[in-house]
Amino acid sequence: MTRHTSHHGAPDGGDPPGVPRRAFRWKRLVIVLGSLVTTAAVAVGALFAWLWTDAKVNTAGKVPFGNALAIPPLAESAVDKDGTRVFDLRMQAGETEFRDGVRTPTWGFNGSYLGPTLRAKRGEKVRVRVDNSLDEASSVHWHGMHLPARMDGGPHQMIAPGATWSPRWTVDQPAATLWYHPHPHGRTEDHVRRGLAGLFLLDDDKSARLPLPKRYGVDDLPVVVQDVRFDGPRLAGDRGLMQNVGFLGDETMVNGTLRPYRQVQDELIRLRLLNASTARTYAFGFPDDRGFSLIATDGGLLERPAVMERIQLSPGERAEIVVRMEPGERVMLRSFPQENYGGAWQRRFGGGDDTFDVLELRAAERLRPSPGVPAALVASELPDGERAVRGRHFDLKLSGINGREMDMGRVDETVTRGATEVWTIRNSNGMPHNFHVHDVQFRVMEVNGKVPPPALRGPKDTVFVPHGTTMKLALRFTGPADPDTPYMYHCHLLYHEDEGMMGQFVVVEKGQSVGDPPDHAGHGGRQEHGEEAD
Ligand code: C2O
Ligand code: CU
Ligand code: CU
Repeated sequence: MTRHTSHHGAPDGGDPPGVPRRAFRWKRLVIVLGSLVTTAAVAVGALFAWLWTDAKVNTAGKVPFGNALAIPPLAESAVDKDGTRVFDLRMQAGETEFRDGVRTPTWGFNGSYLGPTLRAKRGEKVRVRVDNSLDEASSVHWHGMHLPARMDGGPHQMIAPGATWSPRWTVDQPAATLWYHPHPHGRTEDHVRRGLAGLFLLDDDKSARLPLPKRYGVDDLPVVVQDVRFDGPRLAGDRGLMQNVGFLGDETMVNGTLRPYRQVQDELIRLRLLNASTARTYAFGFPDDRGFSLIATDGGLLERPAVMERIQLSPGERAEIVVRMEPGERVMLRSFPQENYGGAWQRRFGGGDDTFDVLELRAAERLRPSPGVPAALVASELPDGERAVRGRHFDLKLSGINGREMDMGRVDETVTRGATEVWTIRNSNGMPHNFHVHDVQFRVMEVNGKVPPPALRGPKDTVFVPHGTTMKLALRFTGPADPDTPYMYHCHLLYHEDEGMMGQFVVVEKGQSVGDPPDHAGHGGRQEHGEEAD
């Protein structure tokens, strides 16, 4: 600046009258720039403070829950001559009035949103005729079901628009709360979020004999939880700034009902909780911290009930809980902030700090007495990891599992039928993931080297794996060998799955080698009409 001043100054070196003014201007410039920088910093700070505050959702106690809870109807079925129970599902587009007078474009099975509850018994042969009346191809996967790979409904069993797919299998697993949803590669988040999901309940003799609440829609309630955000009449689906888990909504629905309540008349109420959200993890409990009994996890009943105050469910997971009601009370099923969701940043922008009122239970003035929750439930059928013959490692990253993005034409793992394996799952990716394996129910053996908590001791097919976690799972694949048709394993945060956080495995007989996975473009026609013919 000195040089600058002298250059423009008088040649004799004296201070001309203009110099102080220039210095004054220069000072003023500094002040203006300084205040601009300060203003910008304050604005950025304010914007960040606003983003930070705005990112946290809390609906607890904010609005009355005045909509009667919808209960998905039990699907009708016919038993054909060979004793097969046959269901019909039709994927269709429609409109749903979630809010009075506002019609929202949605998809559903046999209706405009969600689908009926399918129900079958262990040992029964079932067949489902799935009609796709949408204008794009999709698939229907039976999440949690033990069945042949060709019937699994993953990305290799696409159903073209107008086509029918009729998978059949024999139910051969314990009573459980399973579910079904589309699984088109790269499009699962979108198809589920539009409304394609439903429950598939399995029963068996043991569950029938236990004195548990079991009247569907009365003291045994399906609770399909989804988070949504409305953008005018439409369901929003865009991922917000810094939401690395995928789309997060700002309110929740149960069975497609916003702000739902349910009148109950029994002392004990069983809730079959399904997290059918695409990305959000919940920690369910009650505001008065009453204990409830966890009786079942993803794949069925526990050996004995476990009393707890919170149950965490990441996308795809289920839990059955039994809660005791007092006459005349109203109690809110609520989702509380997550305790194991990573650092402050991740918790705030990934939904971990959020609180939602989910479902209000309104007890009648007089309640029917219920027998107490039995102390013992069922013997475990889970594999024993101590006798595992083979170990595998899965490193979870958004960019791919074990460093590889999903490829429909590549089989990642080949598993021998009947063998028990131990899979080590690790997440050091800085964000939450979960891990789902098709076809089986597994045992969680260890979480970070420790015995798993009671919530992870039952049969599981999906497990939450927060950042900084290593888990050991024991699995056994007993289905028919099919070297040509893969099953999937993947993160069930559907945005992650769609991005390629998925891999494929085949089950083979001992000594048999992998065949050629049909990549879906090449085999579309054969897959579409599928199993109806055979
Ligand atoms: Cu529920 Cu492979 O999915
Ligand atoms: Cu699945
Ligand atoms: Cu993930």
